[in-house]
Amino acid sequence: MGLLRKIFIPFVGLVLAFCFYSAREDFKPEMLKGKRVIVTGASTGIGEQMAYHLARMGAHVLITARTEAKLQKVITRCLELGAASAQYVSGSMEDEAFAEHVVKEAELLLGGLDMLILNHVGNSYFNYFDGDVGHVQKLLKINFLSYVAMTVSALPRLKDSRGSIVVVSSMAGKVGFPFTAPYSATKFALDGFFSSLRQELIIQKVDVSITLCILGFVDTESAMKAASDVVLVSPAPKEECALEIIKGGALRQREIYYKYAATKIPLLIRDWAPELLDYLIRRSYNVENLKKN
Ligand SMILES: NC(=O)c1ccc[n+]([C@@H]2O[C@H](COP(=O)([O-])OP(=O)(O)OC[C@H]3O[C@@H](n4cnc5c(N)ncnc54)[C@H](OP(=O)(O)O)[C@@H]3O)[C@@H](O)[C@H]2O)c1
Repeated sequence: MGLLRKIFIPFVGLVLAFCFYSAREDFKPEMLKGKRVIVTGASTGIGEQMAYHLARMGAHVLITARTEAKLQKVITRCLELGAASAQYVSGSMEDEAFAEHVVKEAELLLGGLDMLILNHVGNSYFNYFDGDVGHVQKLLKINFLSYVAMTVSALPRLKDSRGSIVVVSSMAGKVGFPFTAPYSATKFALDGFFSSLRQELIIQKVDVSITLCILGFVDTESAMKAASDVVLVSPAPKEECALEIIKGGALRQREIYYKYAATKIPLLIRDWAPELLDYLIRRSYNVENLKKN
């Protein structure tokens, strides 16, 4: 019976997943043409790359982050790449009112909304948890509560357009990685909230999709600076990552895993042998290289 559960059921799951995968609609860049999209945290990193992809696809992009000068540069590039329109709103997601303001601006500037891409992330440290509860609270505001606030404000417009919410999360929001305790807490919170909300929207027959994006290590400047000396894993390219997130949102997928093998296989191991995964994770760090405070 134990053997049946361990081998047969996962095998049937894999076959069903394969059938489902082959029946999926293909992504076409035209799917984003003329769509009105908000991308948060788009002054740099994966968010910036998403803005460029959306621009090439002919979308209306509204980007946001704190640093106005960087946002202006991204907007200029988006217009060069062919965006239907490109605008920005600057401010901090630590302030709930700002999160709501961004959605109101989208209504005003774009006349509605088709896709909300929640991607921004507050600065944290990559090291042993230092006991600072205030930092955890601050990060929860930026990485989690502002995502909720933007979703609440955007839902009426997304219901009108049968739109999509895309939530950028991490492997650190699915399994316990060391040295990211506050960050990890915020990403687990996203999974809980948005997976529950997705169920409620389906029960209520509300046609707004929620795509949770589970990312591995990606070569953005901030991630490389924080972790490249310690993490013994090669980072994936941010440009490709950004495209996969947009594809997942456009195809209204439940979750996307990037890169697939590097993120999905550890999760399969977790379900069978969680202690083995914990052990493998601990082995993938060069702890000697952690920054000394
Ligand atoms: N890179 C990776 O290895 C990796 C792995 C897993 C998951 N992810 C996820 O992917 C997403 C993007 O990561 P990334 O590496 O591209 O990050 P990043 O390069 O550090 O960019 C973060 C963005 O968030 C903005 N931001 C920071 N604090 C903010 C605040 N208080 N209010 C508003 N905006 C703020 C930043 O702009 P300003 O500083 O101008 O405000 C920037 O545009 C995040 O959700 C992250 O958790 C990344």
